[in-house]
Order: sequence, then C-alpha cells, then structure tokens
Amino acid sequence: MRTNVVIVGAGPSGLLLGQLLFKAGVDAIVVERQTPDYVLSRIRAGVLEQVTLDVLAQAGVDKRLPRDGLPHTGFDLLFKGERHRIDLKGLTGGKKVMVYGQTEVTRDLMEAREAAGLTTHYEAQSVQIHDFDSDHPSVTFIKDGVTQTIQCDFIAGCDGFHGVCRASVPRQSIQEFEKVYPFGWLGVLADTPPVHEELIYVNSPRGFALCSQRSRTRSRYYLQVPLTDHLDQWPDEAFWDELRNRLDPEARDHLVTGPSIEKSIAPLRSFVAEPMRFGTLFLAGDAAHIVPPTGAKGLNLAATDVKFLSDALIEACIEKSHAGIDHYSKRCLARIWRAERFSWWFTSLMHRFPDQGEIGQKLQEAELDYLVHSEAGSRTVAENYVGLPLNFGE
Ligand code: APR
Ligand code: PHB
Repeated sequence: MRTNVVIVGAGPSGLLLGQLLFKAGVDAIVVERQTPDYVLSRIRAGVLEQVTLDVLAQAGVDKRLPRDGLPHTGFDLLFKGERHRIDLKGLTGGKKVMVYGQTEVTRDLMEAREAAGLTTHYEAQSVQIHDFDSDHPSVTFIKDGVTQTIQCDFIAGCDGFHGVCRASVPRQSIQEFEKVYPFGWLGVLADTPPVHEELIYVNSPRGFALCSQRSRTRSRYYLQVPLTDHLDQWPDEAFWDELRNRLDPEARDHLVTGPSIEKSIAPLRSFVAEPMRFGTLFLAGDAAHIVPPTGAKGLNLAATDVKFLSDALIEACIEKSHAGIDHYSKRCLARIWRAERFSWWFTSLMHRFPDQGEIGQKLQEAELDYLVHSEAGSRTVAENYVGLPLNFGE
C-alpha cells in the first residue's frame, strides 16, 4: 500500500486532518488501534471556539452544528456563594463559543469519512512507524493476524497522549514539559435539563465544580476529587449531594438530578512536547500536548494544530513547497503555550490545592473578586476563553 500521508489515530485530530486533506485532494490512510464504538465512547469537553468552528466548516462537517450546537455568549463564575457573569460577547466585540460535545464532532467526522469512501483501518494492532528521518517513511500494523505495510511521504502522529508516535522519537530529540495536578475531575453525564442556561465554574472551599451541558435535556457536571478516590465511592446520590454543597442557593434549588449515564474520574495534567516535527513525522493534538480541562482548550488546540498541519501538508504534497512544514512546529507551539498558560492559570484559580490553607482560599477569592469587578480583568478572561485569533502575535 502507498499513500501521501498515514494518519495514526482516529480521534478528532486524525479524522479532522483526514477530512481537510481529502478536501484538498491529498491521499491519506487512517490507522486506529480501537473500534469506532470505543473511540465514540470517550466523553470529553464540548466548548468550541470560533476558530474551531471555522476549521470544521472548511472540512465540511458543520451541518449539524446550527441545529444541535448551543451558542453561549457568557458563563458564570461562582465564588463566596455568589455568581458573577462573564459577558463573553460584550467583552470581546461580539464573540461567543458553541457548546457541542466532542463525541458529536467525532461522530460527524467518522460519518463524513465513511460517506467519502476513505480508508480507515480500525483495530490495527502493534502499529509501528519507521524511517521518519528519511523521505520514505512507512507504517506497519497487524490486522486480522496479517502484517500490513503502508509506504508514505509523511506520517501524522494524531494518536493521543499514550500513542506510539511521540514514543518512537529518540529521547535526545525531544523535550517534554509536564505538571500533574494533585486532584482529578469526577464527571457525570445525565439526561436531566441543565441547572442553568450557561456554564457555571465554581470555586468553593469544598473544591471546584463545573455545571456544563450537552443539550437542553442532557447535563454534564464535574467535581474536583482526590486522585485516590474510586468510582465506587461515588454513587449518584453522593455525587448530587456534594454538587449541591458546592452550589449557590438558587442553583441548588434548580438542580434536577437523575441517574448518571456515564461517570468517570480523569486526572489533570499540563504537558507539552517540543518540537512537533521530526523529519517526516508530525505530532498533532494530544500526542503533543495536554491541558487541564478548565477552560476546555484541548479540542480547540487540536483543531488549530490540524489546521496548520493540513495547510503545510497540502503545500508540500501539491505545490512541492516545504515552507509550511518547516514552520509547523514553531507556529503551533506559540499558540499551544498561550493556551497552556490560560488553562494552568484558570485551574490554579478555581481548585482547592492540598497545601493552600485558608490564606490560599482567601487569595483566590480576592483574585476572582478583582476579575469580575474590573473590566480589564474580565476582558482578559473572556478573550482567552473565546480563543485568541489564529494569527495572534504573528
Ligand atoms: N496506534 C493507533 N492508534 C492509536 C495508538 C496506536 N499505537 N495509540 C492511540 N491511538 C488512537 C487512540 O485510540 C485514539 O482514538 O489515537 C486516538 C487519539 O485520540 P485522542 O486521544 O482523542 O487525541 P486527539 O485526536 O488528539 O484529540 C484531542 O481529545 O483529550 C482530548 O482534550 C483533548 O479534546 C482534545 C482531543
Ligand atoms: C464539558 O462540558 O465537558 C466541559 C465544559 C467546559 C470545560 C470543561 C469541560 O471547561
């Protein structure tokens, strides 16, 4: 088998890249180690920046968004028992975000790929990448007991944090920056109407909480929990009781509870690998970086990596120019570090840390108080939340 680009991983990054390359007439094959159902079962943040919506439109996978996406022009910060609205639209000259689950983005991409008749090898075992320090790299994997080889011009490592691509780079060629937070997020998905029409981010002395949503009838809630907690310690009733404890009286009264349809605990991490290009191998999305979910930057960062990578690969494959691929890593990393900073800052501001003490809580509350009462403070939060422009700082 031969193709222009082998894309390792059929998460949102890999599938979006495949779609953008297809639209431009560049051949690509996707190799994924899981089944499609497994890929779709992962529940992740669902707040899309305008820049991401633009890339989805370019890929032709925005048809369901006007009907099923929920435009949000603000969100609430809850601290010291009171809620304060951050008016995203008013503070950013009219910008907003779209609440639309990552699972739905992935489903739209899978359907578009299938409709176009493009090749995806699901359940590929022992995926390995070869010779990416040369112009003739290849990817091998085992499918139904048979070893397959795909020769290509480029490899796109879209295989997430635990993938094979970053792990295949020699240690001396890559630098990794990492911070692991001393708590996790316990998430619950429930078919209940959301407690509020917009998201509520909660700083409480009992720990962080988030009230989010997937639709007008499906809610997504999170609680900060110790990393040592297990799901069996959190039956639904215990989850709802603790959430109520972290909310303000009005939200507490409005909260509609019900059986959870998904429940999971996720660790929080800030991580960046530099650079993102190694010869003919390019990393994109979670394979290269992780943000803690506070602020929902993960999918948005993945979408902009993929936008830059598709532009670069199209230039290389069609126009035979290497200018784009030579700039790929630097261009992505500037944007990534800005989003890493915002996600780390917002996480640090909203969570209870084991060693922060009473003074730490007071200082967080004083900073939140400043942010919501200063227009400059609120604007800083808003412009980062809606996403910085693609060419910011260039
Ligand atoms: N071979 C083939 N596929 C692999 C391998 C491998 N060795 N290792 C991992 N994969 C697949 C995974 O099964 C997964 O489907 O790569 C895919 C990576 O998908 P994601 O982890 O969703 O990463 P990405 O597509 O970059 O999505 C970024 O996910 O975590 C969120 O916040 C993040 O929203 C962002 C988005
Ligand atoms: C979510 O809906 O899952 C979500 C929303 C906003 C966040 C994180 C997660 O900041």
